[in-house]
Amino acid sequence: MNEEELNALMRPKKVCLCKGLTRADIEKAYDKGAKTLDAIMKETLAGTGCGTCEWEIEKILREKQQKEEQEKKGQQLELFKNGS
Ligand code: FES
Repeated sequence: MNEEELNALMRPKKVCLCKGLTRADIEKAYDKGAKTLDAIMKETLAGTGCGTCEWEIEKILREKQQKEEQEKKGQQLELFKNGS
């Protein structure tokens, strides 16, 4: 791996170039309660410039929702196993 590749890995990738927001910024807003594209846009201003990043924001939202559902199912399975 050369220095350029290493720098690309170390630098957080911008999801929204217009507003300079990273995936971590979107995830933080989601965790604070912004669960829809509109809510993310209001909370972070992501997607309120050119709008070309909306698909990526929606992709992050789907991934976060799927992760939450998997965690919920895991918790329910644990409760079932423990007989509670
Ligand atoms: S890249 Fe997000 S609004 Fe333009």
